[in-house]
Amino acid sequence: MEFSTWRSVSIISFTILAFLGSGYSQQAPRYSFLNQAAEAPAISYYDYIIIGGGTAGCPLAATLSQNHKVLLLERGDAPYGNKNVSNMVNFPDTLQDTSPTSPAQRFVSEDGVINSRARVLGGGSCLNAGFYTRASPNYVREAGWDGRLANESYEWVEKIVAFEPTMPQWQTALKEGLLEVGVTPFNGFTYDHEFGTKIGGTIFDSDGNRHTAADLLEYANPEGLTVLLHARVSRILFKVKGRSRPQAFGVIFWDQNGRKHKAYLNKGTDNEIILSAGALGSPQLLILSGIGSRDQLEALNITVVLDQPMVGQGMSDNPMNAIFVPSPNPVATTLIQVVGITKFGCFIEGASGSNFVVSGSNSEGAPGRNFGMFSPQTGQLATVPPKERTPEAIARAVEAMNSLQEYHFQGGFILEKTRGPLSTGFLKLNNQNIDENPSVTFNYFKEPADLERCVRGIEAIERIIKSPGFSNFTYSDVQMGTLLNISTHFPVNTLPRSSEDTRSPEQYCRDTVMTIWHYHGGCQVGQVVDLDYKVIGTDALRVVDGSTFRFSPGTNPQATVMMLGRYMGIKIQNERFARQEAKRKNNS
Ligand SMILES: Cc1cc2nc3c(=O)[nH]c(=O)nc-3n(C[C@H](O)[C@H](O)[C@H](O)COP(=O)(O)OP(=O)(O)OC[C@H]3O[C@@H](n4cnc5c(N)ncnc54)[C@H](O)[C@@H]3O)c2cc1C
Ligand SMILES: *[C@@H]1O[C@H](CO)[C@@H](O)[C@H](O)[C@H]1NC(C)=O
Ligand SMILES: *[C@@H]1O[C@H](CO)[C@@H](O)[C@H](O)[C@H]1NC(C)=O
Ligand SMILES: *[C@@H]1O[C@H](CO)[C@@H](O)[C@H](O)[C@H]1NC(C)=O
Ligand SMILES: *[C@@H]1O[C@H](CO)[C@@H](O)[C@H](O)[C@H]1NC(C)=O
Ligand SMILES: *[C@@H]1O[C@H](CO)[C@@H](O)[C@H](O)[C@H]1NC(C)=O
Repeated sequence: MEFSTWRSVSIISFTILAFLGSGYSQQAPRYSFLNQAAEAPAISYYDYIIIGGGTAGCPLAATLSQNHKVLLLERGDAPYGNKNVSNMVNFPDTLQDTSPTSPAQRFVSEDGVINSRARVLGGGSCLNAGFYTRASPNYVREAGWDGRLANESYEWVEKIVAFEPTMPQWQTALKEGLLEVGVTPFNGFTYDHEFGTKIGGTIFDSDGNRHTAADLLEYANPEGLTVLLHARVSRILFKVKGRSRPQAFGVIFWDQNGRKHKAYLNKGTDNEIILSAGALGSPQLLILSGIGSRDQLEALNITVVLDQPMVGQGMSDNPMNAIFVPSPNPVATTLIQVVGITKFGCFIEGASGSNFVVSGSNSEGAPGRNFGMFSPQTGQLATVPPKERTPEAIARAVEAMNSLQEYHFQGGFILEKTRGPLSTGFLKLNNQNIDENPSVTFNYFKEPADLERCVRGIEAIERIIKSPGFSNFTYSDVQMGTLLNISTHFPVNTLPRSSEDTRSPEQYCRDTVMTIWHYHGGCQVGQVVDLDYKVIGTDALRVVDGSTFRFSPGTNPQATVMMLGRYMGIKIQNERFARQEAKRKNNS
């Protein structure tokens, strides 16, 4: 049967659930404590200086501001008023914006996978796909966290940023498919991490508006907090003379006019500098400040403050492989809402809908034709192996997209994320420039178990696509063959694969690996920081963010990153009060 005929037959009974870009963008809240770095004095003093206003940094600053003078330094702008950040349908726009003022800073790992890091108040929670889900009680225990305080901290976060999603039919079909292939039981809507299939939370509300870690600043005490935007911290300052351990006492930061500022800790042994610059930013800044392996520091002409070879080690990025499933029926735009937590070590999730604009660019200058979350324009180019994902290859994919018909864009992606992962790599600096990305190697699939999990994940996706529950949103094999034949240069991967593709499942995993942006490590607990997140071998310095993780928490990390910011804020306050109380007792 002619492709377009059966398409128009089946389209009739369907309602289009697609969200349309409403043009809505959140109004800037009148946070009295939000300022530009250029307006800051050349020298200032605080009890806590937090570097990085990201997913962990914002909840941490809001909490510490209750009783102390806190400075939060963020290199990016505020997220408010930027529709690319605020609207769910604009998800790909930020990632494809590679300008120096973009909230997303693109980086390419040495593995060749194109990736992205945040440069905006609210951090990765302003760029991400919104899925909100907690770590398992097991993960919480193994991290050494107090389970009750962790739960209270999750709840504190959830009151502001987490929502129950409305479930368009495509996500419901994915859920049904997961259950039919045995990813059971169905756990309903829950933030909890349990085997089976569930509907998770989302930081997008029912209008598709994003709520971010920056919104957690609503909890802040305005008297206690100063947030500086466009404040690029280039160095942490240490006192070394006459001490057995270097003690952090200040930072150097630069404003958007290129002016240098210094912020120091107030006198008092309890005051601290806390690094929350993320998995790339935190190890980078430690090294720039003289904490790293002696060899690397000397090669960069950086004075050694502490020889710490573990800084920048243990970098991991969970491999993600995704399959585009063309749909005969229209689909709503959704990011991630359903997850299958399998017993074989991978998580299966999906995102649906895409954007087809004939002009190649819509009225608002948005990307035009794209595959939503997995558009080649955002760097998610999986049809060629990682090291071949050059700007020319991206241009060829975009060109190929321009020759497709509108119906080719109709569908969704089912992805699998490898749990853990077990494979690790490392981060190195190429130079002393804080604005440049460090060089990072993730060593995807170096450990055979990661590869095995990927292969099983792809097999499960294949079964889901063929399951009765998913049938409304996929073509039969015969029809799919025709569809693929129409477009041999299809710019995204689909199943079934072409008969000419003789790659082993393992090679397929390696060749089509992408990122789900859950990279972590570089300042791991037990290696660079202790169980209290204090930098081992130093005083008055901690790291609190995703760089401290050994494994990615839950199915998706942001809930736990925000939780950790709140959790450590409470812990730091409690410890401080306990010390003061002990001192008071001693004196009386
Ligand atoms: C595209 C994308 C999609 C994702 N999807 C999901 C999802 O659906 N669900 C989920 O749970 N997770 C998702 N994640 C992952 C999650 O968002 C991150 O793991 C999390 O945001 C990391 O938080 P962090 O606090 O460690 O770092 P960040 O949030 O990146 O915070 C670091 C902050 O420090 C600032 N900074 C860095 N260096 C300096 C410096 N020298 N001076 C001043 N400031 C500095 C940065 O600008 C940034 O704001 C996604 C991530 C991305 C990028
Ligand atoms: C939004 O994204 C588009 C596409 O990447 C970009 O051209 C535009 O400048 C961005 N707008 C804002 C306000 O950042
Ligand atoms: C934390 O909450 C989870 C459910 O979200 C529960 O399973 C766990 O027992 C709780 N932990 C504690 C210590 O209360
Ligand atoms: C380090 O300093 C030496 C001597 O000043 C110089 O030759 C070298 O280029 C510098 N290296 C770097 C990486 O800046
Ligand atoms: C497919 O769509 C039709 C029409 O909306 C609906 O009646 C049917 O239940 C759907 N099938 C499945 C398996 O969800
Ligand atoms: C694919 O296209 C070729 C040439 O146009 C045609 O001969 C072949 O029958 C097509 N295959 C399918 C499965 O439609």
